[in-house]
Amino acid sequence: ASDMLIDSFGRFHNYLRISLTERCNLRCHYCMPAEGVELTPNSQLLSHDEIVRLANLFVTSGVDKIRLTGGEPTIRKDIEDICLSLSSLKGLKTLAMTTNGIVLTKKLPKLKECGVNAINISLDTLVPAKFEFMTRRKGHERVMESIDAAIELGYNPVKINCVVMRGLNDDEICDFVEMTREKPINVRFIEFMPFDGNVWNVKKLVPYAEMLDRVRQRFKNVQRLKDHPADTAKNFVVEGHRGTVSFITSMTEHFCAGCNRLRLLADGNFKVCLFGPAEVSLRDPIRAGVDDLGLKEIIGAAVKRKKAAHAGMFDLAKTTNRPMIHIGG
Ligand code: GTP
Ligand code: 5AD
Ligand code: SF4
Repeated sequence: ASDMLIDSFGRFHNYLRISLTERCNLRCHYCMPAEGVELTPNSQLLSHDEIVRLANLFVTSGVDKIRLTGGEPTIRKDIEDICLSLSSLKGLKTLAMTTNGIVLTKKLPKLKECGVNAINISLDTLVPAKFEFMTRRKGHERVMESIDAAIELGYNPVKINCVVMRGLNDDEICDFVEMTREKPINVRFIEFMPFDGNVWNVKKLVPYAEMLDRVRQRFKNVQRLKDHPADTAKNFVVEGHRGTVSFITSMTEHFCAGCNRLRLLADGNFKVCLFGPAEVSLRDPIRAGVDDLGLKEIIGAAVKRKKAAHAGMFDLAKTTNRPMIHIGG
């Protein structure tokens, strides 16, 4: 482990999230505006070799978990090559992917062969018509199939990310919990977070405490599990269920104190906090011929500027950040 990944509060960052594309085959309201977002030209996106060079630098400095995000990572054409190269980095333990599951049934067997060993699938509703409204596209059945495909391939648990929005899908919380009875899944209810272009409103936020209350009213014996200090989720199990239930409480009980995450965006910008607007380009110095030592200095300096925590939720709603589709969560 090197000093490059330790911030001024002593937090060691062993988890790198890499966004592979700004494109997506869905158009979720909470992630992007209806009119879409401006796309970085392909030539300005990191190439396979640039991604692998940077990832190698992070892994040799102590990163042992990489998560691929987007946009939708599975639509990047060289996704398999990227996974194969990343999974062969010595010292990397987890190569994870967060995906919307639309094309996963077809792609997952190969991705698994290429070393993807953890899968998180986004699913916000169990009602097909609502899926179409929330994502502005069809595909509910394909996502449901991809969850079963991932289970069959042995991913355990398959994590299901459900962004809860009042008046939209908050009536389905217990139905999602019901899915954990037989399936080896971890359903994660996520508090709705503000990003550019997603029309965040506090009325749409369903606080963690309220979600947990509703689960406890319907299911007896809901037990808290031990969390890992850097986990984004607070974990629970309903007694007798095969799967588990978690809450990601960014808005009402942030977990910044244990943060171990850094982000590389598809355009080569490096971001030390999901909410902090600070970004520094790694692509530009690479294309200007910088050596690894130079890159490490740039990365280390950015990590040292990381703040202790993001501001309160109403400040967050006012801050300009990128749209979620650019950041990848
Ligand atoms: P695991 O590695 O399986 O624990 O997944 P993860 O929670 O790290 O990643 P995932 O892509 O599944 O994201 C789930 C939710 O957590 C999304 O809403 C993300 O935006 C949110 N999330 C991920 N990292 C952070 C973070 O550093 N801060 C905050 N506030 N939210 C985050
Ligand atoms: N608030 C909370 N979670 C979000 N995600 C996307 N946008 C938001 C938001 N505004 C989630 C997606 C995906 C993960 C990467 O981030 O559902 O699962
Ligand atoms: Fe695509 Fe995921 Fe954003 Fe939805 S949340 S538009 S699936 S990247």
